Amino acid sequence: MASAIPRVGLLDVLRRVILEGDRERIDMLSRLAQLHDDHGPVFQQDLGFFKMINLAGPEANRFVLLDQSPIFSARKPWMQIMGRIFPNGLLLLDGAVHKHHRKIMHMPFKRPALRAYAERMNTMIDERLSVWEAGAATGPFLAFPAYKELTLDMAAAIFVGVDLGESTRKMNRVFEDLVAASMSRVRLPIPGLEFQRGLEGRKFMLRFLGDLIPKKRASDGSDMLTRLCHAETEDGERFSDQEILDHMIFLMMAAHDTTTSTLCSMTYELAKNEGWQERAREESRALGDDLGFDELDRLESLGWIMKETLRRYPPLPVIPRVADQSCEFDGYEIPRGAMVVISPIYTHHMDRWWDDPWRFDPARFSPERGEDQRHSHSWIPFGGGPHMCLGLRFAELQVKVMMHRLLRRFRVRVPDDYEMPVQQAPISKPLDGLPVRLEAIA
Ligand code: HEM
Repeated sequence: MASAIPRVGLLDVLRRVILEGDRERIDMLSRLAQLHDDHGPVFQQDLGFFKMINLAGPEANRFVLLDQSPIFSARKPWMQIMGRIFPNGLLLLDGAVHKHHRKIMHMPFKRPALRAYAERMNTMIDERLSVWEAGAATGPFLAFPAYKELTLDMAAAIFVGVDLGESTRKMNRVFEDLVAASMSRVRLPIPGLEFQRGLEGRKFMLRFLGDLIPKKRASDGSDMLTRLCHAETEDGERFSDQEILDHMIFLMMAAHDTTTSTLCSMTYELAKNEGWQERAREESRALGDDLGFDELDRLESLGWIMKETLRRYPPLPVIPRVADQSCEFDGYEIPRGAMVVISPIYTHHMDRWWDDPWRFDPARFSPERGEDQRHSHSWIPFGGGPHMCLGLRFAELQVKVMMHRLLRRFRVRVPDDYEMPVQQAPISKPLDGLPVRLEAIA
């Protein structure tokens, strides 16, 4: 017999939603830890018309993400969150349709493509570091806006293949509106509100990318949009123009905030942990300025630093699903239609799975310690199963090229007493823009 799932009291839920929404965005981890301490690994927040069930730990992650039955829909919760702005993105598809689209979308993420993207990244990052160097001489460097602009510019160049210029600048602004609208709390198409700006931004992007498609279909360029125009299954099936547009807009969104978040958290931890910064710099010095896709594994320490950063600051702190059928987990019955939430950020701080989980300790990922090997689903910044992040190699490449070149050129510093104020949800980011000092290495 399945047991009843412990409930968070209605007043507590209402207080949280109405009065403490902002605090929860900032420190979601403490709130989750408190709820799991009070109610155990499975609890529900029940508003009558809406049930949300939180599951904790690697076994829950495996159950939900691998979804072998299958039971869970990714489309339903993500449609509620971003469906009006990013409809039909890969994460917003389920089942056979998702499988079919994902197969075609793999093509622009294969090794030869990643090798070509790496070349473009190296050049763009080098140019941008020179700009930052000139600015750093006159005052502190605000890492968050700088990384955000760079990742958007790289998306324009590498994803769409357009040169930096006026139209790219406009696209970058529009793109910010799109992302803000998808996170917006007030979702009414009222002129002047961020949601309406997002809907207009979507129209702009559809026109902008739509105008490029005929040219891209007829060309053999190396950008992602061209590759997506040519991608096909063994049976010769290709995407329609509309499918390409939906996938491209979603991809650009999926790529830039998550990577910006990772770059910021990593920059902060490198500045706080000078020993690790020096160690990563030594490894980078042993390689040339340009970092190729096939050289990524040679930066062993940087690899552990990136994994540890994603453990402490997963850009997506929670992952939602909707149960399409009732099912049982750990002796509890999950009713059909319930929203089910698993939590990378909570799992990544469980002392059952990690030694001293609040400590930044990249060596926990070394082969000798291998703390991430204790369970297949204890480290899940990129999710898992059929919806596992398609861009994880791309993200690894972009972050490592950036850090490799940055460390060869600069020492990154923050004052000893500086603690980065973080907003953990919906996507982890520094609240103060992360001011750091970049000291050029002679
Ligand atoms: C550090 C950076 C990144 C992190 C932490 C991250 C994280 C994630 C996570 C957790 C998911 C799964 C969400 C779920 O199951 O509900 C996901 C899906 C996805 N990500 Fe990423 N992501 C990153 C970068 C990127 C980049 C750079 C791209 C594209 C170039 C990308 C493209 C996608 C796509 C297309 C999906 C949907 C996959 C599917 O539904 O089959 N991501 N990502």
